[in-house]
Amino acid sequence: MPLKSLLREPLLKFKPYVAGKPIEEVRREYGLEGRIAKLASNENPLGTSPLALAAMRKAIEEVYLYPDDNAYYYRKKVAERYDVEIENVFAASGSVEVLELAGIAFIDPGDVILASEKTFAIYALVAQKFAATLRLSKMTDGGYRYDLKAMAELLDDKVKIVFLANPTNPTGTWFTKSEFDAFMAKVPEHTLVVYDSAYEEYTTTPDMPDPMAHYRAGRRIMLLRTFSKAVGLAGIRAGYAVGPADIIHGLMTCRFPFNINLVAQAAAMAAMDDREFIEKSREFNARELAFLREGLKGLPVTTPPSQTNFLFIDTQKDAQWLFAELQKIGVIVRPIGQKAIRVNTGLREDNEKFLVHFKRLIESDGGRLP
Ligand SMILES: Cc1ncc(COP(=O)(O)O)c(C=O)c1O
Repeated sequence: MPLKSLLREPLLKFKPYVAGKPIEEVRREYGLEGRIAKLASNENPLGTSPLALAAMRKAIEEVYLYPDDNAYYYRKKVAERYDVEIENVFAASGSVEVLELAGIAFIDPGDVILASEKTFAIYALVAQKFAATLRLSKMTDGGYRYDLKAMAELLDDKVKIVFLANPTNPTGTWFTKSEFDAFMAKVPEHTLVVYDSAYEEYTTTPDMPDPMAHYRAGRRIMLLRTFSKAVGLAGIRAGYAVGPADIIHGLMTCRFPFNINLVAQAAAMAAMDDREFIEKSREFNARELAFLREGLKGLPVTTPPSQTNFLFIDTQKDAQWLFAELQKIGVIVRPIGQKAIRVNTGLREDNEKFLVHFKRLIESDGGRLP
């Protein structure tokens, strides 16, 4: 008789997160030579902040030592930036660590997690992993934008955590300050709002919310930031959370010792000072995003406005077919659902290659949906 699985009940049907395909895997699978354009994981095509690179080179000499388990200097730097205490800062090995720890620390089976449909996949996975009930609000404006009014209607005393990404992934859209302020006025005091601001550096609109104003007003809100995007540190895993001391303490209680490694701490601190690289990345992104959008004009696709480094492209073709066909010519994108793809800004030559082949595929007879 086969042994009974040792997995906890909620994990028996759990399907882990599927990451964007690495370049070398695509090269092997398709026998490709030459440059491969990875436009699938919203990384920075300009590479890594030079200040962070220099700091990492120096730090690597010290990796025979354990990292500072308290990440004191890193947390202090973040605390100074937001004018909070060090107890209000959690130093994370990437922001997904915080999302997972929020589940471990705060979710009992049956608690309710509130999120939107079509948002960052990890929120739903956290709910599933910790046997929470997931409430999802529908999106508005063609089904691409958070509907905070509809979300507020799903709030009640059972909601323990609300996960919000602003701007959101994969659609790239955002909600405004007035929409968010109205939403916060309806959130019960005990509920934790996790405000995931992964793409903050790329936003150009003046109407973005100010989550820290709600924190300063005493609300249970936690800001989540990552170094994976604009400063090009996705591979080292670094991020942080800023929030009320009891919430940060909850995360601290559940983390692994030495959760953020020594090189990542050095990189993150240096990247925070690299205004020049952030500015350069922001300008580059704005230009290339406009170039991609312009190149899609006239095609039978829908592309909602984006405040990020990627575009969500709703097509009438099979997303898996588009994904596979583009991989054959060395362009990796992200298929989303049945008929959409997400493509991030790359170097100009990569964006051009994507546009030429995407147009060809969209105008061809292939990839018809049943
Ligand atoms: C909204 C959002 N939050 C968090 C992350 C993950 O960031 P990290 O690399 O810091 O775990 C991503 C990455 O794609 C994201 O899109």
